[in-house]
Amino acid sequence: METRRASVSTMQQGDDRVSTGIGSLDKLIEGGLVRGDTTIVAGQPGTGKTTMGLQFLVHGAVRCGENGVYASVIESGEKLKRNARRFGWDLDALEKEGKIQLVSLQSTMKAGVSTALETVLEALHTVNARRLVFDSLSALMTAFESTAEARSFLHIMLKFLEAANCTTLMISEVPWGRQQLGTNFEEFLGDGLIVLESSFDNSRIRRRIYIPKMRGTENRLEGYDYYITREGFALAPTPIPPDKIR
Ligand SMILES: Nc1ncnc2c1ncn2[C@@H]1O[C@H](COP(=O)(O)OP(=O)(O)O)[C@@H](O)[C@H]1O
Ligand SMILES: [Mg+2]
Repeated sequence: METRRASVSTMQQGDDRVSTGIGSLDKLIEGGLVRGDTTIVAGQPGTGKTTMGLQFLVHGAVRCGENGVYASVIESGEKLKRNARRFGWDLDALEKEGKIQLVSLQSTMKAGVSTALETVLEALHTVNARRLVFDSLSALMTAFESTAEARSFLHIMLKFLEAANCTTLMISEVPWGRQQLGTNFEEFLGDGLIVLESSFDNSRIRRRIYIPKMRGTENRLEGYDYYITREGFALAPTPIPPDKIR
């Protein structure tokens, strides 16, 4: 009881948190993401970025009354639906109920910045979205003819998201063997950064999550092991002990 009172009193006034749908992650970040903020989720292929994004949207739509859009430059809506089904998330039903919209941007991007923007903004408007997942920043860079186009797309979209108070996960694909994020958009995206990492440990893959940056949230320097199960994403309850860090 005492601890609870203390933690509530240290919260900033008007601090409105958005649950990620991953309880173990929410606990680390003072209840969730700050409403309206944009957080980069960076990681190598297969680390669970898409899974995290879907979990965030499904949780919002089913449990929080917050509708959402998944805008993908990489995957078709069908593929997302198939992947989501493995976790028991019925995107088809949520789409029919008008709670979620899946937008495939692959062909739209070739038509230029304004068409691509129109597609995303229209989807956000249609479901009155409070959450967005954009997959991915790296694909955005290559989908347009020039970096200038990608920048202007991102700039306008972020302005809109801010005005709409829409909480956003921006996925960033990190190529295998690289440490940096692999895009040069970070200057736009100041609010938060979640890094998902896969490494080989005793001949098996070990998954770790780090949160180097989260606006308005106490810093968490420790890494945590995480797991992907039939229920989705979950973090190990305790940080990785210092002697286990490479
Ligand atoms: N039911 C499940 N149980 C355990 N792991 C799963 C399950 N479904 C998918 N996965 C794993 O989770 C990962 C999900 O990848 P995904 O979210 O698509 O990653 P990314 O978007 O980062 O490439 C894959 O490596 C896959 O093997
Ligand atoms: Mg993915």
